[in-house]
Amino acid sequence: MELTGKKIILGLTGGIACYKSAEFLREMIRAGASVNVVMTQNATQFITPMTMQALSGNPVYVSQWDEPITNALAHIHITRDADAFVVAPCTANFMAKLANGIADDLLSSLSLARPRHLPFMVAPAMNVEMWQNPATQRNLAQLREDGIGVLGPASGAQACGDVGMGRMLEPLELLQEVVAALQPKSLAGKRVLITAGPTFEPIDPVRGITNLSSGKMGYALARAAREAGAEVLLVSGPTALATPYGITRIDVQTAQQMYDTVMGNVSDQDIFIAVAAVADWRVANASTQKMKKSEKGDAPQLQFAQNPDILASVAALKKRPYCVGFAAESEDLLKHAEAKRKSKNIPLLVGNIGHETFGKDENTLVLFDDKGHVELPRSDKQDLARQLIANVAKRLT
Ligand code: C5P
Repeated sequence: MELTGKKIILGLTGGIACYKSAEFLREMIRAGASVNVVMTQNATQFITPMTMQALSGNPVYVSQWDEPITNALAHIHITRDADAFVVAPCTANFMAKLANGIADDLLSSLSLARPRHLPFMVAPAMNVEMWQNPATQRNLAQLREDGIGVLGPASGAQACGDVGMGRMLEPLELLQEVVAALQPKSLAGKRVLITAGPTFEPIDPVRGITNLSSGKMGYALARAAREAGAEVLLVSGPTALATPYGITRIDVQTAQQMYDTVMGNVSDQDIFIAVAAVADWRVANASTQKMKKSEKGDAPQLQFAQNPDILASVAALKKRPYCVGFAAESEDLLKHAEAKRKSKNIPLLVGNIGHETFGKDENTLVLFDDKGHVELPRSDKQDLARQLIANVAKRLT
């Protein structure tokens, strides 16, 4: 699990988004974390310490004068052995305190006394006017300058009836951010372009040819690259997957659209990872109207034209990013994969067996380069994606 063995401090300040923090806490526990909750007095007006205690299985701290805190230095010790500290929701008032180093209750004292190496994040949640107020924006800039991770906020309908910036991120998005904060930043400052999913080649307006790629491996790589500090652009064929938080996604249908989008965005990329299962052919005589069944029972005759090879085209550019290809083979992986790496003229090709990966959450990867091949043993796709990103990062240095 993604947070196994990790100790997280979760701070709550007084806002209506506190109800989402119960779910956020639950998600962190599900991911294997042990969580200590600290609440401001105002937060207890929105959700009870009892709820957070029952969900975390740990005592909840509100004041430094509470029973469970037996010595006056507790505000220093609670964070000493923690792996991450996140304040969610973080009110405008608490942002102001953080920006100015004010320590007038347990949570603000803990924040000020946190060890310098401890990843510290806040998830702002407030009314849109409060968010846009120049005072809050000044404080926001100060938090960023101080190296505090600011998660969100998102835009949308607010509890007070307004619509705009200031909604706290959703529990699963917050979970992704905490997991991300704990990953090594091996691709800091790099730009990564990834293709993912199948393509869809129309036959007529309601029919088409596609394949069994779910997009899971490409999306997992997009998430892993962002966790490693990269700016990620994901060009995706039709999938049922949610965009990982913090990633720009452009949706396409056909191989030609995917090619155009990649070629239009590749010039300033450091790394290109082609994971998409791109159709080799499109229907050259696709109909603009829905084809009708013929009375005589004649079947339509489809003609095919070859699609551009996106990966080979990027690899052929004069100023090219570091290119990584994927190969899904049904048999004889070793032979086909190495041949493919050479023919596409790319430094790294990742092989997998089609029926073992399509639609599955787990996979086995074999990495082919000019020195031979190594296997990343069967594991969860997100875990493999992190290993692959770490491997690619090493090749760049
Ligand atoms: O040639 P083949 O489809 O087996 O190669 C697979 C690799 O090439 C994958 O990385 C895939 O994303 C990429 N590819 C591509 N454009 C195509 C066909 C494949 O980028 N038209």
